[in-house]
Amino acid sequence: MANNQHNDLMDKIVSLCKRRGFIFQSSEIYGGLNSCYDYGPLGVELKNNIKAEWWKTMISQENIVGLDSSILMHPKVWEASGHLEGFTDPLVDCKNCKKRFRADHILEANGLKPDFRPKDKKYNLKCPECGGELTDVRDFNLMFKTFMGAVKEEANEIYLRPETAQGIYVNFENVRMSLRLKIPFGIVQIGKAFRNEITPGNFTFRTREFEQMEMQYFINPKETKKWYEFWQKERLNWYLDLGIKKENLKYRPHEKNELAHYAKEASDLEYSFPFGLKELEGVHNRGDWDLSRHTKFSGQDLTYEDPETKEKYLPYIIETSGGVDRAALTFLIDAYTEIPGGRTTTTESTKEIEVVLKLDKRIAPIKVAVLPLSKKENLTKISKEIYLNLIKDFRAMYDESAAIGRRYRRQDEIGTPYCITVDFESVEDKKVTVRDRDTMKQERINIAEVKDYLKEKL
Ligand code: GAP
Repeated sequence: MANNQHNDLMDKIVSLCKRRGFIFQSSEIYGGLNSCYDYGPLGVELKNNIKAEWWKTMISQENIVGLDSSILMHPKVWEASGHLEGFTDPLVDCKNCKKRFRADHILEANGLKPDFRPKDKKYNLKCPECGGELTDVRDFNLMFKTFMGAVKEEANEIYLRPETAQGIYVNFENVRMSLRLKIPFGIVQIGKAFRNEITPGNFTFRTREFEQMEMQYFINPKETKKWYEFWQKERLNWYLDLGIKKENLKYRPHEKNELAHYAKEASDLEYSFPFGLKELEGVHNRGDWDLSRHTKFSGQDLTYEDPETKEKYLPYIIETSGGVDRAALTFLIDAYTEIPGGRTTTTESTKEIEVVLKLDKRIAPIKVAVLPLSKKENLTKISKEIYLNLIKDFRAMYDESAAIGRRYRRQDEIGTPYCITVDFESVEDKKVTVRDRDTMKQERINIAEVKDYLKEKL
């Protein structure tokens, strides 16, 4: 696809998200806050469904338990984790237009291999915006700093967590002891993370506030290869099972010089976004970096003793780390389908491109829409009753405005798997028509059986 087609697709996704209540710019009535987004009524359902699916998948594995740790942590945590020192991006400023860029991104754009320590070399590159002279590369720490309590002094400095993982590491002993867990075991957590990204962008792909779904799997170091490979397969399969097209996903192992400061090896699960192949989720072998550092900085020995073999070791950690927002964006992009001329034969639809969001039923924000064929009271009364009955069990929508073809298309555009039409016959035979989003097949179902029918289908 040509570049402008790619941009076109992103524009369409952004517009759909706003128009249909998935995602809005944060603080929009004040002109918006750069790189911050609010999830609207449909967006929050989509995100909740993604999180619920992830949680269910992870927690249904043997020996995996959950945690919800606080965003604010003891400042020593970030010293121990290496984030204070190593969680930096190489930054350059344009001396002319004053714009700020990531040095590695400029290298990439100039066809140079991204060197993650570009500081050590001289490149003589120019500002990509105005061609001006660039400053030397500086390290810029990505953590957001704030103050705890009333006094704004250094002793009260605290950070918003840049990853949820550290909350799990510092609770390793609490969780292990309270549940008497044996290695291997995993701890999962979903929560907000914050990074003062230099170049956020591509809609919700890179933002300064985002949500992560992370798992830390504690293992015997001798089993690293086995679990590293196991979790790569599991995570890929999760996306495939939820309908992401196989040809759009690919693992890319990190080269030595791009590894994060904590990683021994890492592999990015990349998705073919309209703006290029980019990381969707990472699987990392963090070795004993985190537990050894926390042992050193906290003074608490986190060594594990195998109850059977009596072998003592610091567990290695295999981490799977994905962004909820990035996953939501990926599902939206992958599901977005345009059908020129539309699938229905009404005159208005033949002129237009029809959009169908082919989201998996499990993550579709609205599961069913109830549509009376006309606004006549005998139809709307039955329809309302059906809707009010369904809403107790499913996210349902009621829509009586505009022609029925247009209403179907409104639902297709937001990925609603089922539409129920109440017509004049419904009054007599107490039956409704249920239409399937993907096959467009229509079935006549007894009103009394609609709920069971949907429960089975969904
Ligand atoms: N604990 C390891 C860790 O945080 P990461 O590769 O920095 O690893 C993991 O981040 C995932 O979090 C990414 O694959 C991405 O899905 C998401 N993520 C990271 N930075 C993000 C940002 N600025 N905006 C949105 N999502 C982000």
